[in-house]
Amino acid sequence: MIVGVPKEIKTDERRVALVPAGVSAFVSHGHTVLIEKSAGVGSGILDAEYRAAGAQIVQKADRVWTDAELVVKVKEPLGRELRLMRDGQIVFTYLHLASNERLTKALKRRGVTGIAYETIQLDDGSLPLLMPMSEVAGRLSIQKGAHCLESVSGGRGVLLGGVSGVKPANVLILGAGVAGFNACYIAVGMGAHVTIMDIVSKKLRYVHDVMGGHVTTLMSNRANIGEEVAAADLVVGSVLVPGARTDVLVTRAMVKAMQPGSAIVDLAVDQGGCCATTKPTTHSDPTYLVSDVVHYCVANMPGAVPRTSTYGLTNVTTGYALALANRGFERAVHEDAALRKGVNTHAGEITHPAVAKAFGMSCTELAA
Ligand SMILES: NC(=O)c1ccc[n+]([C@@H]2O[C@H](COP(=O)([O-])OP(=O)(O)OC[C@H]3O[C@@H](n4cnc5c(N)ncnc54)[C@H](O)[C@@H]3O)[C@@H](O)[C@H]2O)c1
Repeated sequence: MIVGVPKEIKTDERRVALVPAGVSAFVSHGHTVLIEKSAGVGSGILDAEYRAAGAQIVQKADRVWTDAELVVKVKEPLGRELRLMRDGQIVFTYLHLASNERLTKALKRRGVTGIAYETIQLDDGSLPLLMPMSEVAGRLSIQKGAHCLESVSGGRGVLLGGVSGVKPANVLILGAGVAGFNACYIAVGMGAHVTIMDIVSKKLRYVHDVMGGHVTTLMSNRANIGEEVAAADLVVGSVLVPGARTDVLVTRAMVKAMQPGSAIVDLAVDQGGCCATTKPTTHSDPTYLVSDVVHYCVANMPGAVPRTSTYGLTNVTTGYALALANRGFERAVHEDAALRKGVNTHAGEITHPAVAKAFGMSCTELAA
């Protein structure tokens, strides 16, 4: 199969969909890999490294889209890419179609098989291609939060880990899922005093077992949240209610009760945010103040560390892409129920119920 990797064109997107080790894997199975010139530069991967792994470097994206039977990307096709997609082509990437009617219609109209990273789902309900980005965001939230607490950022000048004879910072993490656990892991490593909350006891028990006495676990309810937010130097919002807007757990009054110069990093900003004072920010202008509390609410945090994010993402995507190339679409999705759930459009039809429902369109689910 001919596999193509265009350079990402979304603003500030520096990740790339294949790394040299992935190219080697495809080439060793007899596939051809086309990489657009400079596609890996944002992640610190040179064309020469791809070439050494067996890829052909092509000068223009058009060539990738014209020749490739399987296009592997990071972000959804946009702009001129929408016109370059073609009938029967497989596009494997983050698609987020339920909030993008224009792209859904374009994939349908052009007969493109759109396979979305974010809807590939294992039997236990987990979303393995979202997980590495939550790991990155969770870990980064503490790094960013620590910076917010510095006086140059408007913070109260508190070092997360304190020093001998001086108290460490209090870090409160709301949500003990993938991102929350990773935030917890880094905050403990930096010597902070950490409290983590969830509504699911099993999650709290896991953190308690793994982190031992280094972390306080608490059931998430309004009373506990109010008390802990008031005492926190840094609050990390890492809550997710699948398919719904995140509940507002931290009210304006709670933010007002925080010490001036405290910080909030709200990872859940894309789901509406778990603080009443959350609004989306960007890497170029990441923070703002409400009641003298520094807020950091960047929606695409992994973009700050594209190299780590690229390697984390491709660790989990390349195996699926390789299965598609080796077995062909029909057999690959027939043999792997998780991959089948990733198929959002195929042969001019919407194949994912949630996407069809979002636009009141009909759905033709793929047979098992
Ligand atoms: N900003 C970014 O760049 C970025 C990147 C990745 C993920 N995220 C966001 O991070 C959030 C967490 O993602 P995840 O992958 O860790 O999800 P997850 O499903 O693994 O974890 C979410 C946790 O929230 C808990 N929860 C639900 N309601 C709660 C409540 N009322 N109080 C406390 N806990 C509650 C759930 O029980 C679960 O343990 C999501 O909103 C996701 O969109 C943001």
